[in-house]
Amino acid sequence: MNPAYDKYYETENLFGAPYPELLDFYNNLPNKGKLLDIGCGQGRDAIALARLGFEVTGIDNSAVGIAQLNKIAAQERLPLTGVVTDLYAYTGFEAFNYILMDSMFHFAKKEREQEVAFLKRIFREAAPEALITICLQNTGKKVAILNDIISSEAAVEEVSSKNLVYRYEDKASGHSSETDYEMVTVRRNH
Ligand SMILES: C[S@@+](CC[C@H](N)C(=O)[O-])C[C@H]1O[C@@H](n2cnc3c(N)ncnc32)[C@H](O)[C@@H]1O
Repeated sequence: MNPAYDKYYETENLFGAPYPELLDFYNNLPNKGKLLDIGCGQGRDAIALARLGFEVTGIDNSAVGIAQLNKIAAQERLPLTGVVTDLYAYTGFEAFNYILMDSMFHFAKKEREQEVAFLKRIFREAAPEALITICLQNTGKKVAILNDIISSEAAVEEVSSKNLVYRYEDKASGHSSETDYEMVTVRRNH
């Protein structure tokens, strides 16, 4: 395990509220279903999506984040299960109607090859018709790299792309910042 985020997650709800656009997107889908939140952290999205009625599995290698998520799931009796695991060791993507990866990929030089291979694996192993949503920072070449992966991968086709703004407030210092993000959704072909 790599508990890199365990220390950050001593601050509860570190990343704040989910993007309103992300909630709108899922709320407007005709069917709720099984959703896998990969790298769910403390459950910023997973908890909100379970409250909307999705049957959510969240995976993350931070035991601290997963413990916080599971506590809220139990308190509210949500259809939400958090599992501590390395995302690269996870199998079973075909069991989900929806797969979400929010703020998981950066395509930095050192990790790019592993991240690209992982995305392609998800695209290929997802169930037919599954919707796979990726939120990533819209800085440098990140979105262009993602778009290249999508257009070179016959297993999926893009269904939507939306600009988001992530607003972060450091509660300790009061410092706040805004970052451009992109939310891209693809559908697994038959
Ligand atoms: C920037 S946070 C995003 C958390 C959440 N998706 C959100 O948007 O609030 C990245 C998350 O990925 C998790 N993570 C990073 N590498 C991982 C790995 N190899 N396996 C499982 N989780 C991982 C971290 O523990 C952290 O919770």
